[in-house]
Amino acid sequence: MATAYQLALEKVKNGINSAVVAAELVDSMTLEEKVHCLDGAVPFWVGIKDITTGGYHSRPFRAAKVERLGIPGFHFSDGPRGVVVGEATAFPVSMARGATFDPELEVRVGNAIGKELRTIGADLYGGICVNLLRHPAWGRAQETYGEDPHHVGEMGAALTRGAQRHVMATLKHFALNSMENARFGVDVTVDERTLHEVYLPHFKRIVDEGVACVMTAYNSVNGQWCSQNEELLADILRDEWGFTGFVISDWIFGVRDGVKSLQAGLDVEMPYRMIRNAPIVAALAEGLITEELVASAVTRTIATMLKFNVGELPVRDCSIVLCREHVMLSQEVAEKSVVLLKNESVSGTALLPLDLKPGSKIAMFGRLAAARNIGDGGSSDVMAPNVVTPLMGIGEHFSNCEVTYEPGANLEEQARLAKRSDVAIVVVGYTKEEEGEFIGDSEDTVDLVKQIPRQDDPILASEYEKYMRENHHYAPDELRIKSRNGTFSIGGDRESIRLLDDDVQLIRAVAKVQPRTIVVIVAGSAVVMSEWINEVSAVVMGWYSGINGGRALANILSGAVNPSGRLPFAIPHDESHLPFFDRNAKKITYDYWHGQWKLDRDGNEAMFPFGFGCSYTQFSISSPAIETNELIKFRCEVSNTGSRDGATVVQVYAGRKNSLIERPKLRLVAFKRVELRAGETKHVECTASLQSLATRDTKTHGWFVEQGSWNFEIAQFSGDPKALLLDQSIHKQIDL
Ligand code: BGC
Repeated sequence: MATAYQLALEKVKNGINSAVVAAELVDSMTLEEKVHCLDGAVPFWVGIKDITTGGYHSRPFRAAKVERLGIPGFHFSDGPRGVVVGEATAFPVSMARGATFDPELEVRVGNAIGKELRTIGADLYGGICVNLLRHPAWGRAQETYGEDPHHVGEMGAALTRGAQRHVMATLKHFALNSMENARFGVDVTVDERTLHEVYLPHFKRIVDEGVACVMTAYNSVNGQWCSQNEELLADILRDEWGFTGFVISDWIFGVRDGVKSLQAGLDVEMPYRMIRNAPIVAALAEGLITEELVASAVTRTIATMLKFNVGELPVRDCSIVLCREHVMLSQEVAEKSVVLLKNESVSGTALLPLDLKPGSKIAMFGRLAAARNIGDGGSSDVMAPNVVTPLMGIGEHFSNCEVTYEPGANLEEQARLAKRSDVAIVVVGYTKEEEGEFIGDSEDTVDLVKQIPRQDDPILASEYEKYMRENHHYAPDELRIKSRNGTFSIGGDRESIRLLDDDVQLIRAVAKVQPRTIVVIVAGSAVVMSEWINEVSAVVMGWYSGINGGRALANILSGAVNPSGRLPFAIPHDESHLPFFDRNAKKITYDYWHGQWKLDRDGNEAMFPFGFGCSYTQFSISSPAIETNELIKFRCEVSNTGSRDGATVVQVYAGRKNSLIERPKLRLVAFKRVELRAGETKHVECTASLQSLATRDTKTHGWFVEQGSWNFEIAQFSGDPKALLLDQSIHKQIDL
């Protein structure tokens, strides 16, 4: 016999509104069942034991299951670079994917991750992480796409589009979670324009894309914890943006005041029964809150599950996991993400692509050359087997050359090796030890610890133990236990955005004796390079590049693939050009200015500007045109004027000279990646919304577009001296 939930699914399939159907179903629930859906319903102690002994990579987190009515609950799994349960395909981290400037490719990544999620029974993906890169030291920089709201919004919307073909997706962390070590305690102060024009546009873009779920952030904003922040959750997310999905908390210590969180519109505390259950039960008993308040939260959760067909989503065969198509997609992304920053001539020829005769000597250096180093070891860690390191990739590709790597050698010996070789490749940067998610012994959570139930509810405990037994996905122990266990509290915000001293010394020692030195940087965001960059001929940003990253690198260095990645952030000459950052801050103000916008405002030239990246060919842009209607349409011709096939990213920036309002000199409003054969010219069109020019009106809390003349630049990076300039008068009053 069909369950009540199955009947509800039928109704939704027959076109009845999911919120109406869910409300009926919730009406048939007892108060106890409704309250049961307000958190993960896993008792804390059994849950915490599981997560700290590898359970995080064994099964998805379940919540909102009601057996009596056949409500299956939802099943959550992270994270941005692939599925974290069992073995899975590791994609390059989001920041690398941001460097592709290729939303269609990102749709394919989301599609692949969505399929792999369905093999482990997950139906809620936790990977749409779009907090803005305010400062490169942010430990989780690698999990987002960059510093620009338009670009981050388009990339995150694309991942959502792809993943939501198969599962529901979670947009996180709402909001202003752009620092790591202090995340459990910091209060971020922000004014209305900065909030809406800088830190929220990309969240709104993804809500408009139809994302199912939003996860709140740990930090507080303007004095109120995000998990109970009425302005963020009720006024902005639901009332202003019309979000109809459900809201979950960040994990463990993500909820502060159970009752307030419910009142503000947080629907589920994840992943355990930890903070909110007892106070909510008490408040109900005392009549301080109503059953309707509980019902409306549960209705939002179940309505979204019904809308996404949760419970009847196809279960995928495990053979899809790590299948050739996904691994090759990961490699394609890695290839398209590499940013060639510098490529000078040595003896009259550009160092890259490498032109090596058989038998040539390639010397590899750096602790990361042979490391399995695909990114952070926190919630985004993927248990990918057989990761191809740079050394493996180079060795395989240049099998007719002699590839050496002597990590144990001292600096003098390394220099001797470099001198004897035809080319030196130095792979430096970071690992999860230097940057990543962080759970410190935080004094910020001391009060919360007191709220954790002392003992587990035995019925819930045995239900969870059953769930654990029935849902155990294999991942190699040596990978599983390294992540989300006792040693998890490493990484965090970077202490410095320089390379480590040892790395700098190595680069110098090698470059001093070997003019053909290529530096490959593995990092999640910007690295200040001023102290050594003039000593080397070539630099590439290689990122945490996924399961086949070493092969992608070899293809780029050899020229089998022409680099086309573009920086999703600006790299300054000096750390002092960045916004204020204190990784232990208790309070911080986020003003309007960071990244390229701040450099432009302060008159500091970037070492490498936002959107910058070189190629082995050249491109030119001509015949610009603009047309303004409901949307602003840009047209131009793009030509590959060199002798190799390649790709560039057409970028449109908007500015307004003599504006009475303080705004960025240039702000990205549209972009398009274009592939061109050698000698080919293509007609390119891209569009921007008028909203992308809009200013938040702090009196009416609405939007307006400044009337009059706007200047647009069609360029290949921010501040491109070859940009084509277009002036356009905008006089239309628009209803935004
Ligand atoms: C992270 C989230 C993640 C969650 C579940 C938290 O610590 O901040 O991004 O989704 O854990 O793994």
